[in-house]
Amino acid sequence: MRPIIPDYLAEALGDVEADTSGETAGYIPELARAHPDFLGAAFVTVDGETYGAGDTDVEFTIQSISKPFVYALALSDRGFDAVLDKVGVEPSGEAFNEISLESGTGRPLNPMINAGAITAHSLTGAEDAIAADRVERVIHGLSAFAGRRLTVDESVYASERAHAHRNLAIAHMLRSHDILTTDAQATTDGYIRQCSVRVTTTDLAMMAATLANRGRNPLSGEQVVPEPVVRQVLSVMFSCGMYDAAGDWATQVGIPAKSGVAGGLIGALPGQVGIATFSPRLDAHGNSVRGVSLCERFSSDMGMHVMEVSAPARATVRSHHVVGVGPNALRILQLQGGIGFAGAEKVLRECVDAPFPESRVAFDLTRVHSLDDVARRMLLEVVRRLTLDGHEVFLVDPETIMPDPDPGDGGRVTVVTGADHAVVPPIAP
Ligand code: DON
Repeated sequence: MRPIIPDYLAEALGDVEADTSGETAGYIPELARAHPDFLGAAFVTVDGETYGAGDTDVEFTIQSISKPFVYALALSDRGFDAVLDKVGVEPSGEAFNEISLESGTGRPLNPMINAGAITAHSLTGAEDAIAADRVERVIHGLSAFAGRRLTVDESVYASERAHAHRNLAIAHMLRSHDILTTDAQATTDGYIRQCSVRVTTTDLAMMAATLANRGRNPLSGEQVVPEPVVRQVLSVMFSCGMYDAAGDWATQVGIPAKSGVAGGLIGALPGQVGIATFSPRLDAHGNSVRGVSLCERFSSDMGMHVMEVSAPARATVRSHHVVGVGPNALRILQLQGGIGFAGAEKVLRECVDAPFPESRVAFDLTRVHSLDDVARRMLLEVVRRLTLDGHEVFLVDPETIMPDPDPGDGGRVTVVTGADHAVVPPIAP
């Protein structure tokens, strides 16, 4: 059978191909000269499957798409407090290169605008790092997200550096407010190097998939940044990633995203897929015209909006019945699917609504494929209370879906690892 997703991607590219509106970035000569007709799109799933169509192997510079990743590196290297002290998380509603700092503190409003990104760059690596160490830390970190060693496009770097008056002005403003404590020129140079890192559309989809996969690169298996950092970064991408088009994007597309002035665009759909597109002509916000159209289409075709309300949890309790009689009677709650708060609450309700006359109760997790931490704690609390009420509780868990099944504080559970609840031992006669 022909692969379905590349066919779908090729069809989507065909539909936007004729749109030649927009301009390549005019303020960086090397980008203004770029070939404007490239068009590519790639998906990488959280388990590392890669799909693509069009110009997915053409290299271009990452530009502002580096910002969420470098923000992630700064948060990992210096911790949340040190970074939040210097860069806010509020949408600016302004252009990416606006010289806008919070009044009073001089803090950039968020790390997606240039002011915040230059500051985030200064917060990578060790506190006593020199400029070259920070650049190496950033290139090494971006490479870990991509799963291959990335390099700098020296001619784009030189071209942007020669026209960096605005970013330099921003850096000096930041320095005057002590938001930057590093040298303004050297930090701007480092930031421009960061923006000049070369990537392909496939690299970008892999980087986005690493965010979608809680910070673990799906192919290399490396945990690039900790999970709480990823949550912070995705939240800021959602509210600020598309600059003064962020509100439109959040409602129309609804995927945490980031654009770059070389024409790249990424979206990271948590727990599912990393998306990237490449088309160099930009709209007035500095976002790729055809990239935006493609992402709108992907979101609506495939229900990718993160506010799409997920299926109700009513199917968590697959069956609830009693087998056997007398002292051997066993009440079985057979659970299924992925269980989060709402699913665990269904289980709680089944157990709390009426007392169980049987002394033995089994939770059968054979058909459960995932249990998040809150669901785990809620189920263990049910187990604990059932024990305190005099029940003997079993957990049928052949694949260890429930890590560390200790209900604590007077609770007790016997874990059985056979294929289903039939393995719960009868009471000896
Ligand atoms: O600092 C700049 O202006 C560029 N190196 C990056 C700007 C950018 O990519 C804005 N995004 N759409």
